[in-house]
Amino acid sequence: MATSCSALLLFGATGDLSRRMLLPSLFALHEDDLIAPGLRIVGTARSDLDDAGFRAFAQAALDEFLPDDRKDAARVSGFLDRLQYQALDASQIDGFGALAAKLGDTSGGLAIFLSTAPALFEPTIEGLRRAGLAHDQVRIGLEKPLGNDLASSARINDAVAAGFSEAQIFRIDHYLGKETVQNLMALRFGNVLFEPLWNAAHIDHVQITVSETVGLEGRKGFYDDTGALRDMVQNHMLQLLALTAMEPPCDYDATSIRDEKVKLLRALRPVKPEEMVRGQYRAGAVQGQAVAGYCDDLGQPSDTETFVAIKAHIDNWRWQGVPFYLRHGKRLAERRSEIVVHFKDVPHNIFATRGGRPRANRLVIRLQPEEYVRLQVMAKEPGLDRAGVVLREVNLDLSLTTAFAKARRRIAYERLLLDLIEGEQTLFVRRDEVEAQWKWIDAIRQSWATGDDEVKPYTAGGWGPNAAIALTERDGRSWND
Ligand code: BG6
Repeated sequence: MATSCSALLLFGATGDLSRRMLLPSLFALHEDDLIAPGLRIVGTARSDLDDAGFRAFAQAALDEFLPDDRKDAARVSGFLDRLQYQALDASQIDGFGALAAKLGDTSGGLAIFLSTAPALFEPTIEGLRRAGLAHDQVRIGLEKPLGNDLASSARINDAVAAGFSEAQIFRIDHYLGKETVQNLMALRFGNVLFEPLWNAAHIDHVQITVSETVGLEGRKGFYDDTGALRDMVQNHMLQLLALTAMEPPCDYDATSIRDEKVKLLRALRPVKPEEMVRGQYRAGAVQGQAVAGYCDDLGQPSDTETFVAIKAHIDNWRWQGVPFYLRHGKRLAERRSEIVVHFKDVPHNIFATRGGRPRANRLVIRLQPEEYVRLQVMAKEPGLDRAGVVLREVNLDLSLTTAFAKARRRIAYERLLLDLIEGEQTLFVRRDEVEAQWKWIDAIRQSWATGDDEVKPYTAGGWGPNAAIALTERDGRSWND
């Protein structure tokens, strides 16, 4: 397969993802000369547009979503010149001939980005195959949702596999495109400090929180059918868990890293009913703004969860006895994605007779909105200690934003689109990973369906239902709020 491509084909080109993320990301790659001058970008969707109409659509998207200091009219116009458009109803096989004609010769490599409704996956692959657009110089990026359980995901994967080999398939999890998520590997494997302690002998537990302040965001139908578990835990949070807990890969390449992630995902123990909590937000106030409850946002009754907390266990040597508490929800107190590693207490407190009480070290890896790594260590409070030794927690603080102040912060899709165009698979999810993720998630959903545990209400603007707090408190631990 050619390393780069001469064309990029965007399905769902007039959709929300395209407007907000894909077109601005492609512009950034164009502006920084990271894509070849000859690379054509062909958009396709049902909307009845021509090239000029799509360029106007892209211009409006860039006007809305590019930061002001990046709006260089000449560069934008050069970018728009790359764009072409072919209207297509992907459920109708006939239209694919015209799409192939628009693309012309694709022997120099074609990258396809498929972001469409799940129901259109199979007909789209079939259409591409019949139109001769599934040859071995083609690679295909697939945006979620890729199914809603193991069986439907396997069906989609089978359909894609009928046209493309695994080496041509790029399953997107946009969290892997985030700089700070990749930094997890740099922190773990680029330093000698952490790895010797990164196990059950030294770590008490780990917390992974992805909290959001937003609610439904106009995605009523999709979200209500999906719920928090499948929207965020099945993919992004399990990827964070895998990168945090996997064994050291031998190399920074697609096979080595994905081999380790899949081993880890397969070691996840099925979750017991008492180890999980699901919730749904009620009316409240988020950061000072009054907001409605989920069912009012939705306009109908529903028991879909907008919050989930899980105490997960990994059955391997490294992590035996170390719980990983996962928590995600909409309409929570603040937007925050972080991993907190709680180390064990010191084995013996030499300060006890002098009144000193050391607290266990904690490593806080904040992924967003701020980007930092903070190691909480104990220090002695300055003084003559006549009344005893006072130990206090202080932070060894590494702000990535400050340390790399000169480096341009790129959004996840810039990285992922460039990797797709260049055929670099490391930051994409392999089929066996997705299936291991679904297997664990399906068992949770099965237990919800057959159990009598209900979705618990929580007030918007807080940290979820009380039961989620109890999940850690009854183990003598607390969430890092
Ligand atoms: C998406 C989910 O995959 O990720 C959304 O469908 C969620 O519900 C979003 O809001 C969060 O992404 P980020 O990058 O804003 O943390």
